[in-house]
Amino acid sequence: MSTRRDFMGMALGGFTAIGAIGGLYAAKRTWDPLPSVKAAGFTTIDLSEAKTGQMITEKWRGKPIFVLKKSSEMEAHERDIVIGDDRYHVSIGLCTHLGCIPAYKPEEKIFNCACHGGKFDLSGINLPGLPPSVPLDIPPFKLEGTKMVLGEQGEEYKQMLADGLTRKA
Ligand code: FES
Repeated sequence: MSTRRDFMGMALGGFTAIGAIGGLYAAKRTWDPLPSVKAAGFTTIDLSEAKTGQMITEKWRGKPIFVLKKSSEMEAHERDIVIGDDRYHVSIGLCTHLGCIPAYKPEEKIFNCACHGGKFDLSGINLPGLPPSVPLDIPPFKLEGTKMVLGEQGEEYKQMLADGLTRKA
C-alpha cells in the first residue's frame, strides 16, 4: 500500500514539476520581445569590414546610417568613433534641416544635401550659413570590440551626449 502511495506521490510531484517548467517557459516567451522587434531595435555593424575612405550605408530602425572609415587626410574630430588606430564617422544619414538624405561627395570632402543646399563636413558638422543648423545626429551605439551595436547606449555614446556632440536620437 505504501509503495503505491509513494508511486502516486512521485508521479504527482513529477507532473507538478513539468507543469511549473512549462509555465515558466510560457511566461518567458511572453516577456521576450518578438524576433521582429529585436531585429528592428538593434543593428550590429562590424567596423573592421569598412574600407578607408569608402562610405557604407547601413540601416537602423528604418533610417540610413552612414559609416565612413576616415583616412589620415580626413580631419579628426571628437565625434569620431575611435577603435585602435582607426577613426570612423558614424551618423544618421538624414539631413537635420528637413530630413532628406545627403550624398557623400569624397572629392569635396562633404555630405551634400540636394534638397536646400545643406552641407556637412566629414565629421557630420553642418557648414555655416546654410539651412541645417545642427550637425548630423549620431545614433545610440555601444562598442563591443570592433563591433558597433546600434540602439544601445554605451559609455562612448553617453559621453558624446554629455559633451553636447550630438542630440539624442
Ligand atoms: S533637407 Fe537638407 S538642406 Fe533642407
